[in-house]
Amino acid sequence: MKPAIKITKTNQSRINEVDFDNIPFGRVFSDHMFVADYYDGQWQDYRIVPFANFEIHPASMVLHYGQSIFEGMKASVSQSGKAMFLSPELHAQRLNTSAERMCMPTFPEEVFLEALHALVNLDQAWIPPQTGSALYIRPLMFATDEFIGVKPSHNYRMLIFTGPVGPYYPKPVSLLAEDKYIRAAVGGVGAAKTAGNYAASLLPARLANEKGYDQVLWLDGKDFKYVQEVGTMNIFFVLNGKVITPPTDENTILKGITRKMAIQILEDNGYQVEVRKLSMDEIVEAYNKGQFQEAFGTGTAAVVAKVSKVAYKDMVMELDQNTAKIGQVIKDHIDGLRNGTVADKWNWIVPVKEMAAVEL
Ligand code: COI
Repeated sequence: MKPAIKITKTNQSRINEVDFDNIPFGRVFSDHMFVADYYDGQWQDYRIVPFANFEIHPASMVLHYGQSIFEGMKASVSQSGKAMFLSPELHAQRLNTSAERMCMPTFPEEVFLEALHALVNLDQAWIPPQTGSALYIRPLMFATDEFIGVKPSHNYRMLIFTGPVGPYYPKPVSLLAEDKYIRAAVGGVGAAKTAGNYAASLLPARLANEKGYDQVLWLDGKDFKYVQEVGTMNIFFVLNGKVITPPTDENTILKGITRKMAIQILEDNGYQVEVRKLSMDEIVEAYNKGQFQEAFGTGTAAVVAKVSKVAYKDMVMELDQNTAKIGQVIKDHIDGLRNGTVADKWNWIVPVKEMAAVEL
C-alpha cells in the first residue's frame, strides 16, 4: 500500500522571486517540504507542508549531542521536459546506513521514495533547466528529545526540502593535503553523512583557505600517508594514465553515489579504475616524473570538480587543465543522462511520478 502523505499546498508561491540564471548554491528554497516525526517507536505523520521555520526546544538533543544525518541528491529535467532522479534508492539506503551508525532509527525506504516523488512533483517548476543546474534535495534527520544527558534520543524528525542550484564549484579547486588534522579514522564515523564530520572540517578548511587553497585533501588518520577524500566530494587521481581512487571499505570515506557512477562510466568508456590505497608519496613521485596528469572530485553537489593543484608539505603540484580530460568524460555523461541525450544503460534514471502522494 502507498504510504499516506498529507499535503498542504502553499497559497503563495515564491517562485517568481527567483532568478534562475543566477542561483547561488544552497540559498534558495522551494515552496514545500516533507516532514515526518518518530515517536512511540515509529515514523508517523507523513506530511508535505509549505516550506517554513519551525520551533525547536533549547534542550533538543540534536543541538547538544549531534545526532543529525543528511543526504544530498538532485532532480533534473530533460530537454523534453521530463523530471527525474538519479538512483534515489541508493540515497535512501545510505541515509539508513548513516542512521545505524549514529544510533538513529532507519527511515522506511518506500516512504522516502514516495515523499521524493510527491515533493518534486509538487515543486517541479523549481527545477532549473540549464545544464549543470538542478533541484538540490536535502533529506535531513535529527534527534528531538528535550533532554540533557548523553544517550540516544527517543524522538526524531525527518525533513526533505529542496532548492534550485547552479554548480557547487564553478572553477577548478585547489587542494591542500592536510598533515595535522584528520577527518576520519578507522572505527570512526567517516562513512556516515553526519553533521559532526562537516563541523570538524571547518577549522582545517579555514586554515587551508588562509593559505590560499579552496579545500582540504584529507589523509588517513593514522599515518597521514594515504589519500581519503575532500569532505565535499570523493577524489580521483590520474597517474601515468591510470585512474586511481581510494577504497571505501574501511568506512573512513563517504560511499559516494556519484563516485560509484563515475567508476562505472569510466569502465564503460574503456578506462580501468584502480580502487586502492594511494599514498601522497606515490602522487609526488608521479608528479616528479611528469606523470601526475589529472585529479578530480565527484559528489552530488560538485558532480565532477576539476582540481587545479595539490599542495603537500612544501610541494605544490600544479595540474594542466588543458590535458585533463577524464573527469570531463564523467561530467559529460552525467549531464547527458540528465538532459536525456545519453542512454541510461544502468537504469540510474528514475522519472518523477506524475502524482504519487495521497491527499487526505
Ligand atoms: C553533496 O554533495 O550533496 C553534499 O552533501 C556535500 C555538501 C558539500 C553540499
